[in-house]
Amino acid sequence: MIERSHVLSILEMAVYAPSGDNSQPWEFKIGPDFIEIFNLPDRDNAFYNYEQRGSLVAHGALLENICIAAPAQGYRTIINLFPLGEENNLVARVEFHPTESVRHPLLEAIKARTTNRKLYRKDKPLTGEQVHLLQEAHPDYSAGRVFLVDDRTQMDLLGKAVSVNEVVALENKKLHDIFFQGIVWTAEEEKEKKRGLYLKTMELPLPMAKIFPLFKRWPIVNVLNKIGFAKMAAKGNASIYSSGSAIGLVVIPSRSAIDYIWAGRLMQRTWLTATQLGLSFQPVTGVLFLMQRILTGATEGLEDKHIKALSSSYEVIKRAFNINNETAAILFRVGYGDFPSARSSRLPPRII
Ligand SMILES: Cc1cc2nc3c(=O)[nH]c(=O)nc-3n(C[C@H](O)[C@H](O)[C@H](O)COP(=O)(O)O)c2cc1C
Repeated sequence: MIERSHVLSILEMAVYAPSGDNSQPWEFKIGPDFIEIFNLPDRDNAFYNYEQRGSLVAHGALLENICIAAPAQGYRTIINLFPLGEENNLVARVEFHPTESVRHPLLEAIKARTTNRKLYRKDKPLTGEQVHLLQEAHPDYSAGRVFLVDDRTQMDLLGKAVSVNEVVALENKKLHDIFFQGIVWTAEEEKEKKRGLYLKTMELPLPMAKIFPLFKRWPIVNVLNKIGFAKMAAKGNASIYSSGSAIGLVVIPSRSAIDYIWAGRLMQRTWLTATQLGLSFQPVTGVLFLMQRILTGATEGLEDKHIKALSSSYEVIKRAFNINNETAAILFRVGYGDFPSARSSRLPPRII
């Protein structure tokens, strides 16, 4: 038997995991000596979250938090992924076995971790030791790998490649609408909803922050695009993405559901390790998730010119990280940045 108060403490830590647009796509069932974790497929937007791959990454991060938080409550964990098959919303059953209580070295980083979308320093490289700790953050390497690129020319190319997402997101009405509907505009709204992408965490420079609500309206963006608005926005973001000390990629053997859970676990370990090292971190994933659609032929709703642009960006990413048959799951940048202007909230764990 496990004590309910212990499980609740573990779950309260677990839900600090990152999720696409802070969607928190999970709920929990508590059994006598296990918990079950369910995916909520409608929580995250369906276009980027193709076949729930984004939500599965978030679940991987959640599971990693559970493994790190449980020993402090006196449990070791055994994870059984998809006990009812990969199509079922039951993502994992996690068994808890009593053990000596120990604090995991990454425990404090769980709540300290955050997405930092500020410009990072370009003049401060990572040390060899830091690169080693980040690339080898997860003790189980068999399910994938994390690789960092710190060559400035490559980083500039990568920054440009991943910013193609903004061109597509601002030139495609459907993606534009999805993006703006997901934004939480005010501190009050953020406090009440506790999920969604909080405007203040987007770190928009002041003039842009003031006029940004206007861009909610598609006709305005559509007209501005005729004079290159989307491309200008992408150019600005490209220099933010390539700022920092390195750009990293989580690579998994296949695009199976289980491998995407592993991508989340690897990403989270790397992110927590970065946090512990005092480094800032931002996943930049739009191109990779749209590419999952293109690679499987699910291109409905995407224009040909965008499919072409995304595909050439993907080639740049593959070349930079030397990928052939593996799957590029999560791209991120890491480096030294000022503290973020705001943090996003969490809903308490929903127990069913
Ligand atoms: C699968 C996945 C994809 C994400 N993609 C992006 C991204 O492309 N750009 C970005 O700025 N943040 C991205 N994030 C970060 C989330 O927006 C962030 O985790 C969430 O809003 C909660 O904020 P927090 O990380 O500060 O707790 C992603 C997170 C996950 C799990």
